[in-house]
Amino acid sequence: MDKIAVIPGSFDPITKGHLDVIERSAKLFDKVYVAVLNNSSKSPLFTSEERVELIKRVTTHLDNVIPESFSGLLVDFARAKNARFIVKGLRAVSDYEYECQMALGNKIIAPEIETFFIAASPNFSYLSSSLVKEFALHKASLETLVPEEIINDINQKF
Ligand code: PNS
Repeated sequence: MDKIAVIPGSFDPITKGHLDVIERSAKLFDKVYVAVLNNSSKSPLFTSEERVELIKRVTTHLDNVIPESFSGLLVDFARAKNARFIVKGLRAVSDYEYECQMALGNKIIAPEIETFFIAASPNFSYLSSSLVKEFALHKASLETLVPEEIINDINQKF
């Protein structure tokens, strides 16, 4: 049976830290869905369609990675894709409490789905989409934070 994983998130926008987790997961699973939350209540910088397009652009080298948007419950998306694994990156202990709560919540609704945590690479442990937006707002270089192919798209939003 194929090992299918889902990496969920807002990805507003995708960072080098997200990409690192996606690349490492692509080596561990047969198929990896990058699930972009269509969060209408949050007023994101990029629409979910734009976020999916940016992720597609930076994952062209990964044959088994499929970026898609989703609404509603993550486990419903995972079940629809026959995915038995959710993968989340943990940057620091501060991420753990929230992520553990989500993992336990998902476990109650969908006991057959396992959440795997993957430790962020040290280079990216400080990185977040919020930091990217803060840098872009103040015209700081985004080179170390996001893949080069999407820098213009971010700067154009400011
Ligand atoms: O990048 P983020 O904002 O930390 O990602 C959060 C995300 C998308 C993983 C989370 O909000 C999510 O899974 N939302 C979908 C709704 C859902 O399934 N909630 C879980 C209830 S236990």
